[in-house]
Amino acid sequence: METKIIRIDRDNIKKEDFKEAGEILRKGGLVAFPTETVYGLGGNGLDPEASKKIYAAKGRPSDNPLIVHIADTKDIEKLAVQIPELAWKLADRFWPGPMTMILKKADTVPKATTGGLDTVAIRLPSDEIARTLIRESGCFIAAPSANSSGRPSPTRAEHVIEDLSGKIDMIIDGGACEIGLESSIIDLSGEKPLILRPGFITREDFEAVVSGVEYDRAVIAKTPDKNIVAKAPGMKYKHYAPKGNITIVEGENDRVVERINLETESCEAKGIPTAVICSDENKNRYKCKKIYDLGSRKHDEDIAAALFDVLRRLDSDGISVIFAESFDELRLSQAIMNRLRKAAGYNTIRV
Ligand code: TXA
Ligand code: MG
Repeated sequence: METKIIRIDRDNIKKEDFKEAGEILRKGGLVAFPTETVYGLGGNGLDPEASKKIYAAKGRPSDNPLIVHIADTKDIEKLAVQIPELAWKLADRFWPGPMTMILKKADTVPKATTGGLDTVAIRLPSDEIARTLIRESGCFIAAPSANSSGRPSPTRAEHVIEDLSGKIDMIIDGGACEIGLESSIIDLSGEKPLILRPGFITREDFEAVVSGVEYDRAVIAKTPDKNIVAKAPGMKYKHYAPKGNITIVEGENDRVVERINLETESCEAKGIPTAVICSDENKNRYKCKKIYDLGSRKHDEDIAAALFDVLRRLDSDGISVIFAESFDELRLSQAIMNRLRKAAGYNTIRV
């Protein structure tokens, strides 16, 4: 299949530019598009055949449910039942934006979209390109991240092209995603609100609207525990891992730098392609030849936005061994460390 790539200028969004993409979606085809979090691989969420195509293009296990994207809060009534008051409150506060809510699904939503579950994940993105696409297509767009299953989520159109070119009908290139980490997922289908995936909206943010919000223990664990299974099916899979082997080094800053220097020196002496993932604050203190600077610890948004791109560059640069600083003290620490720990297969040394 030939994948058509169209470029849309965020400062000049015209409805006409979405005509063909809307038609593709209505006919059951697939269109990748930018959101404020990561690029999504979109299909008509109410068409089971379109959902099957999404799973096939990504190579995704079919028990891993998709998120359905809407452009108008009221539309949750068309997708969900027994909607608690809290859902409206959270929507009011955090939509449009990087929050996904899990609710009991309505019969309109096929199980092919929800991975066989009786619940549905719903999000109203803030990205104008995404919202225009949803409106102009007239579809509720089911969209997982637009990467091949297991690879880091795409934060630029180039990443989508890398993974999905030739497998989908169209890619809308809208430049780099603003946030760069996937949405926070909050499950409202049980007794208590539960965060199934940490993201840009933190537990503290949720707590400002409602008390008693907990994290699913599996997603903030520092080491994997076989007895705790993540509640979001997608969070149990190996994810984000580059081909190289990442080790996170945590502890007091000077000791971290010292240890990383020792480790990288010994690897480089053996001729192993080695790299360091670090913050701006430390980048000049490393002796390693390859440094991937995520940005300043004073701007944790920058670190979040850079992470997936760096994980992909490690592969294209052929790096086999990577040492990463830990990012434990930031507002977005849970979100960043959840991804970094997974990318490292939870491989951590404490100094
Ligand atoms: O920011 C985002 O959420 C992006 C953009 C494109 O919106 N989408 C995204 O989708 O990250 P995906 O498919 O890569 O991740 C969806 C996660 C998976 O871990 C999945 O298991 C979980 O949401 N999920 C979806 N529906 C669920 C449900 N009904 N119950 C529990 N978890 C669910
Ligand atoms: Mg994903």
